[in-house]
Amino acid sequence: MLDVKLFHMKSFLPMPYEAALAPRLKRAHDMLQTGNGLGGEFTGWVHLPRDYDKAEFARIKTAADKICHDSKALVVIGIGGSYLGARGVIDCLCSPNYNLKKKDTPNIYFAGNGLSADALQEILDLVEDQDFSVNVISKSGTTTEPAVAFRFFRAALEKKYGKDGARSRIYATTDKARGALKSLADAEGWETFVVPDEVGGRFSVLTAVGLLPIAVAGVDIDELMAGAAEMMERCNDASFDCPAWRYAAIRYELYRSGRSVELLACYDPAFRFMLEWWKQLFGESEGKDDKGLFPASVEFTADLHSMGQYIQQGRRLMFETVVRLGASHSQLTVPADAHDGDGLNFLAGTSMDFIRDRAMEGTLLAHTEGGVPNIIVEADGKTPRALGQFIYFFEYACGLSGYLLDVNPFDQPGVEAYKKNMFALLGKPGYEDRRAELEAKLAQ
Ligand code: PA5
Repeated sequence: MLDVKLFHMKSFLPMPYEAALAPRLKRAHDMLQTGNGLGGEFTGWVHLPRDYDKAEFARIKTAADKICHDSKALVVIGIGGSYLGARGVIDCLCSPNYNLKKKDTPNIYFAGNGLSADALQEILDLVEDQDFSVNVISKSGTTTEPAVAFRFFRAALEKKYGKDGARSRIYATTDKARGALKSLADAEGWETFVVPDEVGGRFSVLTAVGLLPIAVAGVDIDELMAGAAEMMERCNDASFDCPAWRYAAIRYELYRSGRSVELLACYDPAFRFMLEWWKQLFGESEGKDDKGLFPASVEFTADLHSMGQYIQQGRRLMFETVVRLGASHSQLTVPADAHDGDGLNFLAGTSMDFIRDRAMEGTLLAHTEGGVPNIIVEADGKTPRALGQFIYFFEYACGLSGYLLDVNPFDQPGVEAYKKNMFALLGKPGYEDRRAELEAKLAQ
């Protein structure tokens, strides 16, 4: 089971702080459990691993099977919470090189997560000569980036298969009743999956949003949900035995003591998009009302050769949360060399995991001695069950953290500012006054 440990924390914080914080954590816990806190209408994810829609879950598996049989590629169109979780899980469990591997499952391409014409064209070219399907994902059904990308891929599907053929290759994951995507899907007869009303985008990876692409990649989604359910049970325990309590508490205390950046670190490149998922989860949930830790990420040991210098000796802004994934699937040992020209024979026969773990321990000590507090999150391996635990753990800790800060962890009003400006500058009807104002500013 996933666990949280503090590394030499006494030198950074007066201990113990638990007793003083416990009543506030209990209050936050009760608000999550009952949905009566700020944004409580979006706490459907809290009991999702138990209460998820079993009929829809079965439909997800059926659709994934169909896609595996009739497609060589699946284009997953979505942004933010409608993208990062699926990408994180697929990269972590199937490899960042998944598309290059020999396999029985389709390649998976992620589109609509930006506005780059080159990125879009590249995926259009890659799937052009293959049988492919599209999973367009947008809770609101109105987000510009995925909507624009979907126009291209829908046209490509209809050109290749005709309107009827395309119909059986488009899967829309969206609101059950509202939004342009839902209306289009109903009008065109596409299969739809639901993002439940009470689950916000960045908490939606364990709904059809993440589960359909993840299942297409061949990941056991029953195991993923079982892992999340195990952690949900653990989080019912309103005490410091719960790892989410310990993590939320220590990061809050570090924030109160003046730290402003949390660096999530891992030692596996396959974990990179889980770090991205985590950044969105905490950044959008906490960063409001002039509050919140800035979530950043580093991939070690690669980033020890770039960001390592700043972490060791730059401004003392941050603390680190280090994810340990445990034993690798591949047990490689360093080969011996008769000439030992590189002087590495002292490592001959040593496993890569052993070397990595010593690098990790050395880094923990160096960074701590350099004035950077470290928290360790020990995951239960790189399996669907462990990742299910990991996802729920961070979601629960994020909800607790938001309530400790007295912010609404489930809205994202700040995201609207760029959208309004973009629509105005693009000449969207209804934004005429703002357009004139912005163009005048740009001309200055
Ligand atoms: O967490 C959120 O709600 C956002 O990041 C959304 O996931 C993101 O903006 C995409 O929205 P939508 O799924 O409505 O297209």
